[in-house]
Amino acid sequence: MRKHKVRMLISEAAVDARIREVAAEISHDYAGKKVHLIGILKGSVPFLTELAKRMTIPVTMDFMSCSSYGSGTVSHGVVRLTKDLDEPIEGREVIVVEDIIDSGRTLSYLKTMLETRHPASLRLCTLLDKPACRVVKDIQVDYSCFIVPDAFVVGYGLDYDQQYRNLPYIGVVDFIKD
Ligand code: IMP
Ligand code: MG
Repeated sequence: MRKHKVRMLISEAAVDARIREVAAEISHDYAGKKVHLIGILKGSVPFLTELAKRMTIPVTMDFMSCSSYGSGTVSHGVVRLTKDLDEPIEGREVIVVEDIIDSGRTLSYLKTMLETRHPASLRLCTLLDKPACRVVKDIQVDYSCFIVPDAFVVGYGLDYDQQYRNLPYIGVVDFIKD
């Protein structure tokens, strides 16, 4: 881990308020239906739980895990499924919930893979979007809480070497030269 400091970017109140808005939007869009949230471990967990708590329609959830990052802050570009879902998604209204879309490789890989399982519908919801870093350009993000600049961000599920996932706000990691 390099020497660094975490600086607040989006406050706890702002994150929570925006999640309530997106939860209301999803509840409205899926009125009369049941939504199956798929969280990508581990980063999406705080966001998914907060989002689900604020939704007013029936919700079920499942989780899967994949790796695209090593232990550092730069993606090596290879996505690997490390834990599959517990239940089939055929015929279900699925929303994949992510902490952040960066290169877009993770979601592009997951979307293609999940579509082969024939859900009734498949949408993407992310807490943060870093469009400046996109490598896979044709990713459609259906619900996004915040656009963030090209910086390394932590908190609300996002980590730097597994740390800071528990911060209740979004911070930027400033690396210090010594
Ligand atoms: P993508 O496949 O490049 O879109 O990367 C998505 C994954 O990379 C996310 O689920 C995060 O785990 C990780 N990631 C990307 N950018 C950041 C960041 O700024 N902070 C922490 N994790 C990040
Ligand atoms: Mg992640």
